[in-house]
Amino acid sequence: MQQDYSNLTEYAANNIAQLKCELEKHFLELYGSSTEPIQFYSAPARINIIGEHIDYNGGKVFPAAIDKYIFLAIRKRPDTIINYDDIRFPGKFTFNITDNFSYKKENDYCNYLNGIITILKDKGFALTTGFDALFFSCIPDGGGVSSSSALECCFIAAMNGLYNCNLTPVENALIGQETEHRFMNVQCGIMDQFIIATGKKEAAVLLDCATLDYEYVPLHLGDYRFLVMNTNKKRQLSDSKYNERVAECKEGLSLLNKALESKGMETVPNPCAMTDEHLDILKEAGASDVIFRRMRHCLTENRRVYKAAEALKAGNLEELGKLMNQSHESLQTDYETTGIELDTLHIEANKIKGCLGARVTGAGFGGCGIALLHKDCIKDFIQTVGKAYKEKIGYEATFFECSTGNGAGPLKEDN
Ligand code: GLA
Repeated sequence: MQQDYSNLTEYAANNIAQLKCELEKHFLELYGSSTEPIQFYSAPARINIIGEHIDYNGGKVFPAAIDKYIFLAIRKRPDTIINYDDIRFPGKFTFNITDNFSYKKENDYCNYLNGIITILKDKGFALTTGFDALFFSCIPDGGGVSSSSALECCFIAAMNGLYNCNLTPVENALIGQETEHRFMNVQCGIMDQFIIATGKKEAAVLLDCATLDYEYVPLHLGDYRFLVMNTNKKRQLSDSKYNERVAECKEGLSLLNKALESKGMETVPNPCAMTDEHLDILKEAGASDVIFRRMRHCLTENRRVYKAAEALKAGNLEELGKLMNQSHESLQTDYETTGIELDTLHIEANKIKGCLGARVTGAGFGGCGIALLHKDCIKDFIQTVGKAYKEKIGYEATFFECSTGNGAGPLKEDN
């Protein structure tokens, strides 16, 4: 039977001290008492304001951590047993920390966690004793705000604390990404784990994915808000066309560089380092229409990210909204990762007075979009866009307002 966790959701939003008490109560009911202390960790979800599908193409991205979190209560055990459980999806998974882990469908979300343990052991950390772990998440799953990266980064932060690994937030992010590559069959970029590990309240992060240089940009939206629009079309990146897009861009880059070499010109390190001239050369070299459009998206999206960060710094939200719309349109026509659900939200959102722009956020293929919206229009927006979406798609979209959040780490009272 599903437990009632509505009080936990409420405490997660308003009262972290009370949330800790409740989590501890559930934890003790499940695992009993011990002399070891229970430790608490959290990690946020994220939105990406702009810069989509270019993190694995050497581009710049502009995400922010948001105030929807996953929480973890964890305690060391004297033996080598590992137990995982989840308040929303109850059921204990038991392993041994000395096991050699590989992906197994029946292990569900534990595949991420066992993958992380394997990577930490490979890196030489002494993970020799087991633990009991209990998760509680307030992040919509399967939905484009990166619930899986939040799970990873939260768990890595806990391993860091439990086994004194001394990992920096950037190392946390890189281990999360490696887990996706090695255990989950998703050749993702670094954006999600990076923002979830390094995010700060009141700021977005402008991240150069080619160098991992990053800058916090204050997110001052005045009377405007980001509203998350969930298509409720579930998808898993491993069975979406995500890896196909990664492969297409690799193909485009290799074709371009061969053409550049044959002309005695300098090659480019990644698709986002291209110029307009490079794009012309790619076409001349016989790139298919699909490959050409994928590469064009990288070029134009990267430019938009730069402009969007400038617009935000200058307080020009109208310009930011326009760039968000252009980004969506490029993902719709050139990169083809939106689909009817997200396109409907994009179109209907832009009909509403007070909406400056709306786009897919994250991988797409379903998942979530975001709208930049005047706070007084939110109620009307949800009603009108929600109705139009249901009429067109046949089921409901859901909406939530968000503000910024803090990156993964030990749970703080002012999370
Ligand atoms: C997913 C991936 C990210 C990024 C986005 C698209 O969220 O995990 O690395 O590629 O899609 O921008």
